[in-house]
Amino acid sequence: METTTKIGFIGLGTMGKPMAWNLHQAGFDLGVYNRTRKKAKSFKSEGVKVYGSPKKLAKASDVIIMMVTDSDALVDLLMGAKGILSGLQRDAIVINMSTVSRESNLEAADAVQLEKARFVEAPVSGTKKPAEDGTLTVLAGGDKNLVDELDPLFRAMGDTVLYCGELGQATNMKLTINLLLGGMMQVFAEALVFGQKQGLDIDGILENISSGPLQSPLFEIKGQLIKERNFEKNFPVDLLLKDLNLVLDAAQQKQVFLPAVSAVREAVNGTQSLGHGDEDMAAVVKLLEKVSS
Ligand SMILES: NC(=O)c1ccc[n+]([C@@H]2O[C@H](COP(=O)([O-])OP(=O)(O)OC[C@H]3O[C@@H](n4cnc5c(N)ncnc54)[C@H](OP(=O)(O)O)[C@@H]3O)[C@@H](O)[C@H]2O)c1
Repeated sequence: METTTKIGFIGLGTMGKPMAWNLHQAGFDLGVYNRTRKKAKSFKSEGVKVYGSPKKLAKASDVIIMMVTDSDALVDLLMGAKGILSGLQRDAIVINMSTVSRESNLEAADAVQLEKARFVEAPVSGTKKPAEDGTLTVLAGGDKNLVDELDPLFRAMGDTVLYCGELGQATNMKLTINLLLGGMMQVFAEALVFGQKQGLDIDGILENISSGPLQSPLFEIKGQLIKERNFEKNFPVDLLLKDLNLVLDAAQQKQVFLPAVSAVREAVNGTQSLGHGDEDMAAVVKLLEKVSS
């Protein structure tokens, strides 16, 4: 992949903005589109072309990267009026880096291939800071030769690229990881609330966890943020709930029994209902604190 390849990036949210920025910094010929135009302002002032529609971006791009919320956004941007499909060039490559269902990726791939273009799924592991630092883990699924061709592009955004297999398998890997992430976050929050209700102080609990076999970067980072009552979003409650729903839908299709994940989903759903959807997933502790006092 040459740096002269024209890259069109769609979705300048928490993750997409730093990812697109890293592509620009790596010297790729970048153009961007975002539904809320003001989020593209900093790119425009750096000389990056800002397009007025996904169609215009697609017309001008060899590779189109999507980093948007969910399946609905993916469908809107691909198939909606002035969507990508209406401007897609033959042989272009569409990369979906958003976390959506396996089915949505397969449907998007079919629609793209009907236009004689190519499709790769590449959801990422890691949150805002790794996105800024270019140290995400890219989970890629689809044609292996195509994934290899895209390697320089992925390595501008991440330091690890894991090929997971045929289309759908990268999403399966991402959901497997986020199942664990959601479970760890919830049970960690429960341990903190339980321990404090027994009269232990949070510093002591955190120190104990980090000095034994349960030590984990996740617990260290989220423990500190909970202690500081800093719930500014990295990976928000809304997106965790989306992913737990994707996990449980996929599990139901294969009749996999996930009782703990179902319970975690209820707790995350309750946290969202309290109005904390746009806060970091560490805010699951707030529901526990509210109903425990
Ligand atoms: N945050 C994380 O830590 C993290 C980590 C790994 C993976 N992910 C996944 O990465 C994806 C993006 O996450 P994020 O945190 O960057 O989300 P975000 O900050 O909410 O950004 C979402 C982006 O999608 C756009 N969008 C949503 N619906 C749209 C629609 N119907 N039409 C057009 N654009 C639409 C938004 O545009 P507007 O600006 O106009 O709203 C925004 O650019 C999600 O699938 C998420 O699960 C997130």
